[in-house]
Amino acid sequence: MAKENLPAFVADHAVCELQASVYALSLVGSYPRNAPLVDRLSALAAEELRHFRRVSREARRLGAPMKTTRRNFYVAELRAACRRDREPERGLDLLLVAALIEARSHERFTLLLGHVTDARLSKIYADLAEAEARHGPIYLDLAIAHAGEEATKKRLDEFLDVEARALALPPRAEIAVHGAA
Ligand SMILES: [Fe+2]
Ligand SMILES: [Fe+2]
Repeated sequence: MAKENLPAFVADHAVCELQASVYALSLVGSYPRNAPLVDRLSALAAEELRHFRRVSREARRLGAPMKTTRRNFYVAELRAACRRDREPERGLDLLLVAALIEARSHERFTLLLGHVTDARLSKIYADLAEAEARHGPIYLDLAIAHAGEEATKKRLDEFLDVEARALALPPRAEIAVHGAA
């Protein structure tokens, strides 16, 4: 990444962490009787919020404003493919979208680690890569518990196609690490 893009990237990343926390909490609010989901996603939301606090301080240090109203087109394409009218399809899709976003964000952090020279940011991104590696599998586990293994596998394949198409679209947004705009 070009050095001059780093402040904007960090500010965008902070917004993604906030959105990841809000998304996890919205699932907790939607499925309050699902005890494993409530426990695991409230813990995950707390972790994303800690990431937000850490990264937003770095954005401030670099003088980059956070744009909380920006649209993440990659996420929007995934969300548009979600089924909303019945269960377990609704929950399955919401959980799988999060699993995919988390998997991609982990990949990006791993890539980024080789390019960031700022010592403070290197440390933060190393810590975050470790955390994000755990998040995708949590969502996948919850999806399987919600809808069964077969339905989850089938739908994951469909979402991978949606994702491939979304990633092939010409870029229309700022860099996005992860999040659920
Ligand atoms: Fe995070
Ligand atoms: Fe995450």
